[in-house]
Amino acid sequence: MLIAGNWKMNTDLPKARALAAGVRKAAETAGDVEVLVCPPFVSLDAVCQVMRGSAVQVGGQTLYPEDSGAFTGEVSAPMLRSVGCSHVIVGHSERRQLFGETDEEVNARLVQAHLHGLVPILCVGETLQERNAGHQQTVVKEQLAAALAGVDIAEAADLLVAYEPVWAIGTGETASPEQAQAMHAFIRSWLNDRFGETVGVDIAILYGGSMKPHNADELLSQDDVDGGLIGGASLKASDFGAIINVATGYTA
Ligand code: PGA
Repeated sequence: MLIAGNWKMNTDLPKARALAAGVRKAAETAGDVEVLVCPPFVSLDAVCQVMRGSAVQVGGQTLYPEDSGAFTGEVSAPMLRSVGCSHVIVGHSERRQLFGETDEEVNARLVQAHLHGLVPILCVGETLQERNAGHQQTVVKEQLAAALAGVDIAEAADLLVAYEPVWAIGTGETASPEQAQAMHAFIRSWLNDRFGETVGVDIAILYGGSMKPHNADELLSQDDVDGGLIGGASLKASDFGAIINVATGYTA
């Protein structure tokens, strides 16, 4: 089980430090649950320092697919590594929708993350319109195929996939446990086909989209749900801690 917090564009530096300290404390009882937070870029260094000596890992929210250069405003994989990040989110639906990131750009970011030893958290998910039209599996399959084109994942630990139905992000609506499990099983079988069963079976597939303390149990109890990518509820250490606590019930 892995519980990841995506802080998005929230928390200034003092708030990020305070939240990080709260998460560090909450994670003390996480047992075998892996805990990860993805703060805004400007707070990454400070949050990494707060987490030092604990098991909590830190990730970026995106990256630019070049090592360095004239790319005003962007942040590279080596920069993320240099402050202590182990992970990076790629292809979040907000990046795709608000900033026009294409599947090809998601692929370039994922390749770059992988090359620099950052574990990519690849986000996939359909819009409400696509689900209503019954196209959700096709959409997710195409996103997976495009994002992972040319990528060889030799070990399950080198990739995380987050299924985040766009209609459930920040809306208070969640996929039902059955909808989540059905899509996670579909993703699992795609990963097994693509990378071989010995690898695919162990790639963690997180659910994201309005996961909260009150609904975490029904989602995390599903066979192919291996954790959560949490936005809103990761901004309060007590809520995030409560979700971590639920996850401890599902570690082997
Ligand atoms: P949410 O965000 O939990 O606020 O719906 C999840 C995400 O976008 O990763």
